[in-house]
Amino acid sequence: MFRKCSFIDNRPALYVLNEHPVGKRIVMISKRCLNFGDSQMSQQTAVGVNDVSKKFGSYQALRSVNFDIRENEFFTMLGPSGCGKTTLLRMMAGFETPDTGSIQLHHQNIVDIPPHKRRVNTVFQSYALFPHMTLSQNVAFGLENLGWGQAKIEARVGEMLERVHMQDFASRKPAQLSGGQRQRIALARALAPEPKVLLLDEPLSALDLKLRQAMRDELRSLQRDTGITFVFVTHDQEEALDMSDRIAVLGSGEVQQIGTPSKVYEEPANKFVADFIGETNFLDVDVLESSGTSATIRTPFGQVITVPCASAVPHGKATLSIRPEKLNLGDQVEGVDFEAKVVKKHYLGGYTHYLLAVGGAEIRASRRNASRAGDDFPIGDNVHVGFVENSARVLVK
Ligand SMILES: Nc1ncnc2c1ncn2[C@@H]1O[C@H](COP(=O)(O)OP(=O)(O)OP(=O)(O)O)[C@@H](O)[C@H]1O
Ligand SMILES: [Mg+2]
Repeated sequence: MFRKCSFIDNRPALYVLNEHPVGKRIVMISKRCLNFGDSQMSQQTAVGVNDVSKKFGSYQALRSVNFDIRENEFFTMLGPSGCGKTTLLRMMAGFETPDTGSIQLHHQNIVDIPPHKRRVNTVFQSYALFPHMTLSQNVAFGLENLGWGQAKIEARVGEMLERVHMQDFASRKPAQLSGGQRQRIALARALAPEPKVLLLDEPLSALDLKLRQAMRDELRSLQRDTGITFVFVTHDQEEALDMSDRIAVLGSGEVQQIGTPSKVYEEPANKFVADFIGETNFLDVDVLESSGTSATIRTPFGQVITVPCASAVPHGKATLSIRPEKLNLGDQVEGVDFEAKVVKKHYLGGYTHYLLAVGGAEIRASRRNASRAGDDFPIGDNVHVGFVENSARVLVK
């Protein structure tokens, strides 16, 4: 009666029941395929963080933190060391309790539910594998504790080891593995009991750069493939931009901004976010007029221009944020333009980074070396610089 009619990644995706007694066609979409791209992601809330505050002694680690993490989402908490990322993750896992507010899992307040009764698992930076057990036993451990039958455990362990490409290593011990392989086993173990939410606390930070980059792809496809909500903690902004559906930027125990990677990079809500994510130039400007979405300013180079802003900025002094790659040089100049002097330059092959002096300020510009003649602004020379108004942003000083 069921006819498989469509495949995604070699797996049956769409089933059609085409001989239904009342003559209607019923279409069923397999669960894993409900895991679409960002635009079609589920809007159901998986984890709700509601007005959470936490003090350690007299130190206020979290201040009234609020956000919702959606089902099937790859959600990243990004921020500098000590901003409260692990504390928030430990609250979701049940190892820490908020002083005020609540943590909800699928709309149920879980603050009083012990860690082992939450359908949430954690992957730690240190892997935390059991050294005396084989890889199979490591992956099976949580399933035995949940009372699964032997046959079901064996099938699940086999499936998980295959999923992380470690099926040929099942009888090895953790000490016989590389860092990346240990990380894969830690992932398999955490995913085996089918948690609703997987918490990952800087899981890639112990790996070397090449492996980190490869594991980014693996983690992302594991998340898309399983449809499990991933809550990922990192202080590495590139990792966050590369992997996440949405990022919560945390600073000083508070949420500074939540948005898609391009939103937080291109439209930072404040100076903290503009500075923490990527590189930027901050210039002092005078605000002449402002609405909620744009401000007319006088630049230090004398021009009056209208530029986007995050919120209404008061008249008077403000900060203009403009990223180095948005400052074009020489024949690449568009929009508002001015002259600057080349102070330093770093030729990096694909790009050349310039330090420029203009009106008593120093600014950084990076130029893509689009042709052989790309790197032709010598130190000490004046250079033509420009930027398009809507690529800059006015922020409250
Ligand atoms: N059990 C504790 N007792 C006292 N202070 C704590 C405790 N746990 C965390 N803190 C403090 O709370 C703040 C937030 O810590 P947290 O571990 O959440 O930071 P983080 O953002 O994960 O930092 P990192 O990137 O370095 O891991 C820090 O200043 C830390 O010293
Ligand atoms: Mg931490």
